[in-house]
Parts: sequence; structure tokens; C-alpha cells
Amino acid sequence: MNILIRKLKQDDYTSVARFIAELNSSDSNNICDLGTKAVEIEHFIHHDLLDMKAEDGFILAHDNNELVGVFGLDIDLDKNRAYLLGPYIKHDNWREVADILWAAILKILPKSVAQARLGPNSKNINCIEFAESNGFDRGNDGLVLKLERQAFQPHKSPEIVEISQNQQDAFIKLHEMLFPKSYYNGRDILSRCNQNRVVFVDREVKGYVYVETQPEFGESNIEFIGVHPSQQGKGLGGKLLNRAIQWIFSFETIEAITLSTYADNPARWLYEKAGFQVEDIVLSYSKDFQR
Ligand SMILES: CC(C)(COP(=O)(O)OP(=O)(O)OC[C@H]1O[C@@H](n2cnc3c(N)ncnc32)[C@H](O)[C@@H]1OP(=O)(O)O)[C@@H](O)C(=O)NCCC(=O)NCCS
Repeated sequence: MNILIRKLKQDDYTSVARFIAELNSSDSNNICDLGTKAVEIEHFIHHDLLDMKAEDGFILAHDNNELVGVFGLDIDLDKNRAYLLGPYIKHDNWREVADILWAAILKILPKSVAQARLGPNSKNINCIEFAESNGFDRGNDGLVLKLERQAFQPHKSPEIVEISQNQQDAFIKLHEMLFPKSYYNGRDILSRCNQNRVVFVDREVKGYVYVETQPEFGESNIEFIGVHPSQQGKGLGGKLLNRAIQWIFSFETIEAITLSTYADNPARWLYEKAGFQVEDIVLSYSKDFQR
């Protein structure tokens, strides 16, 4: 075994995306976050990484000129956090390649990063052993839920509408009460709205759902769904979700909706009632650094 490591270069994007897509497609190699479609992975690592470019934060391992491993970082400097995109490894000596890549990743990890997070599929035994033996702590399990177009039953809810100008202040207040420290505040959400990203509310803004779609990739995300605590348990969440799903499936290219949630999130029951089924269980590991 003669493993050579180096950083990712511009011309590696396509081959790296294909490599990750292939491994992510099998549960025993899957790590959540990047998905299973090569074009989408390439787009993500090229354009959507937070605070570090792939050329600075992705390490590749080659054995006899063949790509055998990829380990990447998605760095959020505001939260001093690193999301680990890997280790993705195709090699008989999985563990040795992982250790070489991890040592290289630790060298390029910005000093300000206080925590690294890793989300292997519950069947990715290699990655779980890697996390446990490198001092990662296990947190709340996550679930990947999926709803196929044909399994969905639309309901009519005329009281659920796309947000209008005079509902914006109430929406911002409600969102910031329900999700005070979230990655998007209320104004961020409103400024993101366009033909592919929509907020639905009931007329009095007792609840809302914010959805983003990427029809070119057949993808969608139910980013936030929330109902005022005094109004929960009365069916509003279910109506908002049903309306959002109808809108998502109005895009012909979207055949299924996949989303992640924590197993103990109350929205899980809401999703399951709407027809979503558990597709994968994702373990949640984190490692704190005192540096
Ligand atoms: C999750 C949330 C949006 C649900 O809205 P809601 O209006 O209370 O939900 P509904 O009344 O429409 O409930 C629909 C179904 O979901 C299920 N459900 C909802 N909340 C539940 C809970 N806490 N525990 C168990 N089941 C629950 C029930 O099966 C219910 O069906 P039922 O009416 O036949 O019993 C709401 O609880 C909320 O805003 N929570 C805080 C914000 C949040 O965590 N959002 C999700 C992350 S983005």
C-alpha cells in the first residue's frame, strides 16, 4: 500500500463527485449531507460550501494513481463548526486510509473550529468505528424520511396561502420566537423567496412553512415548519405541510421529497402522518476541540 494524499484541484470536481455519489448510494458507506447524485454533489462542493473552498478543505487519497479516498470539510466560521464530509473510502485497508486522511484534515482544520460533526448512516460500520475510536461523542439520532409522489394524498385547505406583504411582520415574529438561533432569521427567509422558494401561512399567521426547491435537480427542502405554541395540536401543522407538499409536487421534475429530522423532533409524527416513511437512520457524532 502506497497512499499518496493531496488537496483537491479544479479538475477533480467531477471525479470526486462521482466517487462520493457511488459510495453514498450504499448504506454501508453512506454519510449524510451530500446525497447520492453526482451532479448535485459537484454543484454543492463547487458552489455551496460555507466558509472554505473545496480546494482548501478537501483531501484526496490515491493508491497507484487510483482515487481511493476523499475527506472534506464544510466550515461554518460563525458557529466555529466543521461538518465532516467523509471519510469516503474504497480500499481494502479502509481504516489505514481513514487515519491518513484524518491526520491531513486535522492539519488544515482552521484553529477557530471548536467542534466537528459527522453523520454516518447507521449501517456505515467503518465510519462508526472511526468516530468512536477518534473520541467523537454520540448525540441524538437523525432520521431520513421520504415521501414518493404517488403515496401523497392532497387535501384542500383554502385558508393556507402564500405569504403576502401585510403578513410579513407577524411571520418574522413567529419564526424568531420558534427558532431564535437558526441559520436563517425571518428577514433572511423573506429575502430568499422567489419562484422556487415560498412561505405559506394561514390567514392569521398562527403557523407557517418555508420550502425551497431545486427543480433542476428534482430536489426540495422543507426548511422550517412551525405553529404558535398556543395553537399546536389543532391540525394547522398538518394543513401547512399538506399545502407545501402539493406545491413541491407541482414541479414535474420532483418525484419524491426527502428530509432529515431528529428522531425526537415532534415534526417527525407530522411527517409520518403525511405519508413520509423512514428511509435511513443517521447517527450524530461530534468532537470538541480545545485548542
Ligand atoms: C411540529 C409542529 C409544526 C406541528 O404542528 P401542529 O399544528 O401542532 O400539528 P397538527 O396539530 O397538525 O398535528 C398533526 C399530526 O402530527 C402529530 N403530532 C404533532 N405534534 C406531535 C407531538 N408533539 N407528538 C406526537 N405527535 C404529534 C399528530 O399525529 C397529529 O395528528 P392528530 O391530529 O391526528 O393527532 C408544531 O408542533 C411546532 O411548531 N413545533 C415547534 C417547531 C418545530 O419543532 N418545528 C419542526 C422543525 S422545522
